[in-house]
Amino acid sequence: MSGQTRTPERLRRIGFGFLASKALLSAVELGVFTELADGPLSREALVARLDLHPRLSADFLDALVALDLLEREDGEYRNAPDADTYLDRNKETYIGGHFEWANARMYPLFGRLGETLRSGEPQGTRGEDENVFDQLYGDDDLFERFVAGMSGTSLRIAEILADAFEWEAYETVCDVGAAKGVVPVTVAEKNDHIEATAFDLPPLEPVATEFIANSEVEDRVTFHAGDVFAQKLPEHDVFVMGRLLHDFDLARKKELVQRAYDALPEGGALIVYGTMIDDERHEKDDALLMSLYIRVETNGFDYTHEQCQTWLQEAGFSETEACDLSSRESVVVGRK
Ligand SMILES: C[S@@+](CC[C@H](N)C(=O)[O-])C[C@H]1O[C@@H](n2cnc3c(N)ncnc32)[C@H](O)[C@@H]1O
Repeated sequence: MSGQTRTPERLRRIGFGFLASKALLSAVELGVFTELADGPLSREALVARLDLHPRLSADFLDALVALDLLEREDGEYRNAPDADTYLDRNKETYIGGHFEWANARMYPLFGRLGETLRSGEPQGTRGEDENVFDQLYGDDDLFERFVAGMSGTSLRIAEILADAFEWEAYETVCDVGAAKGVVPVTVAEKNDHIEATAFDLPPLEPVATEFIANSEVEDRVTFHAGDVFAQKLPEHDVFVMGRLLHDFDLARKKELVQRAYDALPEGGALIVYGTMIDDERHEKDDALLMSLYIRVETNGFDYTHEQCQTWLQEAGFSETEACDLSSRESVVVGRK
């Protein structure tokens, strides 16, 4: 469409997109979808259950209807089908932890985009050398939201990796930065011969140990507490680094890849997954915006398939390949 025939609608949608975003994030935080998962409720009943003030409630709930997140019939509200599957805290498919994290951490930090564009100073760390995770893990509330957020969104990727990778060629896998261990547990569940390690910082130990103990592969999955920058990685046939590289600057990204390469045997593999930008850097707006966000928060950034494959090749990987998992997430595999 030429510039002359365009209406300002597209610009309005982008410019005021934060209104819809904040309404959804607040609905998740307040538990709207969890409450409605048991059945439809009138506005009065829902407001009472969620302990909301009545003044805003009609516009709030009807805006969620207009956004196709809720449906309203005969004065009662119910969840739209996708909201019911993914935003009810009591379902295994819940991805709202990521939204709770976005609401508590990302939304206020991204509000400082303008000043960060001028100063260049990351807003989520105190000083150059501070690892953002030290700060997160010192705050119980943020920690809980972060782990829930990561775990909810890694389940689908874990299932794809567990099914699609050539696990029959390998015996052991270590997920570096595994959070509570969704990937190692899922890979072990779907591949009976695999022994898996979830490697992460010590604060993750209690939550990961509990998650592994409640799985059916407790005997084949172990949690290893450690700092990947401070110690050698334990030798494994395959390493996974999921959404780990994006948190760090270029030197640290390369160091992580090198550490994995050094700990692999000949024939071993490194799987890197996470948000990746298209090679031309003009298509994946989601990925570019996420990279911009991470630059506001830390010294990290997201990257293209091509950049990631180059880092793997520089570390020594002889064969690399890349593919998209969704409009935002991609995977790069390197073989030693
Ligand atoms: C963004 S999360 C990704 C979690 C998981 N891989 C996923 O895809 O959902 C990054 C993880 O890396 C862990 N991590 C960060 N720095 C680390 C370090 N120096 N050593 C080990 N783990 C680290 C964090 O604790 C966190 O669990």
